Amino acid sequence: MIKPMVMTKESPFTPSMMESMKKLEATREKRLQSEPKRMSADEKRALLDEFHPDYGDKGFAKIEIGPNAGEKAPKELTALLHSKSRISGLDLDLDKIEFDTDVLIIGGGGAGASAAIKAHKAGCNVMIVTKLRMGDSNSMMAEGGIQASDKENDSPMQHYLDAMGGGHYYNKPELLRRLVMDGAKSIQWLEGLGVLFDKHEDGTMITFPGGGLSRKRLHACADYTGAEITRVLRDEVQNLGINIVDYTAAIELILDKDGNAAGAVLENMLTGEYLVARAKTVVIATGGAGRMHYHGFPTTNHYGATADGLVMAYRAGCNLLYQDTIQYHPTGTAYPVQLFGALVTEKVRAVGANLINVNGDAFVHHLETRDVAASAIIRECHANNLGVDIPGGAGVWLDTPMIDMIHGDGKIASALPGMLRMFMNYGIDMRKTPVLVYPSFHYQNGGIEIEADGNTSHIPNLFVAGEAVGGIHGRNRLLGNSMLDVVVFGRLAGQSAAKVAKSTKIGSLTLDHVKCYENQIASAGLDTGEASPILLPKYARDVNADKLK
Ligand code: FUM
Repeated sequence: MIKPMVMTKESPFTPSMMESMKKLEATREKRLQSEPKRMSADEKRALLDEFHPDYGDKGFAKIEIGPNAGEKAPKELTALLHSKSRISGLDLDLDKIEFDTDVLIIGGGGAGASAAIKAHKAGCNVMIVTKLRMGDSNSMMAEGGIQASDKENDSPMQHYLDAMGGGHYYNKPELLRRLVMDGAKSIQWLEGLGVLFDKHEDGTMITFPGGGLSRKRLHACADYTGAEITRVLRDEVQNLGINIVDYTAAIELILDKDGNAAGAVLENMLTGEYLVARAKTVVIATGGAGRMHYHGFPTTNHYGATADGLVMAYRAGCNLLYQDTIQYHPTGTAYPVQLFGALVTEKVRAVGANLINVNGDAFVHHLETRDVAASAIIRECHANNLGVDIPGGAGVWLDTPMIDMIHGDGKIASALPGMLRMFMNYGIDMRKTPVLVYPSFHYQNGGIEIEADGNTSHIPNLFVAGEAVGGIHGRNRLLGNSMLDVVVFGRLAGQSAAKVAKSTKIGSLTLDHVKCYENQIASAGLDTGEASPILLPKYARDVNADKLK
């Protein structure tokens, strides 16, 4: 049951929070001089084993059919994979082609936009379908920055080693190699298109540190890096005249008789009408799954993050990789309730803010990786019972006033204006008081398996980019490597899809793979009674039902 919270007239915090805050203030001076040591590999492993949701069995279910049968996945994802299609039982006329294009891109975030720009420039006819509006995506909501090893003291090798360590050595080497090698080029490309990165007065890029980074490698646009990058990519797509079909979801891949990807069945989100899009090549750039709220966590993700691409690709025969590993961002907002789960960028920790328990003690080094920091918070709040009471649970402090104390007054206002404004809206001035945080579902580390040129291993003419890919980041991603991967693998998928499209002749279209998959569900007695992909979170309002009232 959610406990009632009593707030004083003068403060947005409750008396018990205020009491804890006094303890935090009392230890600050000492903490500015020293903080907990970095953990050893053994200490990290023990912490993860006991407290990170990925490392237990609770909340997971076995996938029973398809390429990953026998492996575990969050139970909500398994349920999607065991559900019938949205077109189940319908006899769609695949000769009634509404859209015909060279390259079909599913998803209008950073990866989809990057792919579209490159495929268009390679001379192809390109169409983007997006179930919400162009730009509505996790890319738009990214805050902290984008990694690239373009400083003198850094190198792609250093970047590679950091990401490999952060990913617990599960990263697919050829994908990670591509990510780090294309870092500097991607920053130059974005800047050339008009992204306004933060710079020193001499014109060189400002770079920030981060959890698990051995160098300051994070390029940022204050704390709205994703919004700035997505703004520029979306403008470029529009300026190039690329066809955008919004409020239209892809719900099944269409194959041709030779088993090549050849388009998608689309569903108009406003009318419910089904449409056929035929294409020589298809790029899945559908993003993440935060709105599935695995393990009951809140999320930092945008409204459409419901694992659609994974479901469609899996039904068509693609392999998933590390679908059981999820990133819980350590610093989701825990209070006030209106912001529950919203991202407090890792940049806040990176520039020095400590995580502090109810007694005012720091319990983890500020530069530990996300999985380690999140597990430490979960331990502090539950096993150690040292969390601060928030409505419905517990959180810990993120001691934000330390930032201006370390870097000088004005640092928060200049580097973190979005955060400052977000909390100010609720009467919390993070320059003067700490903020309360708890882990929030941020990123699906796993996804569809791809090869080095962005194509899926199992279906010719199908490419994947962005968060829907599994393997680049191993079992834990470092901050700023997602914005880099949407650009690197978006561009790559666009180029590869365009190249293949030029020599592709499409055979007759089929949805037999969907029927075959549904037969497997029926034979295994798995039918959940639901249809997938779900497209919007379960708590979404039914607009058409509202209209009928
Ligand atoms: O914390 C953040 O700003 C998030 C960045 C990321 O996920 O890369």
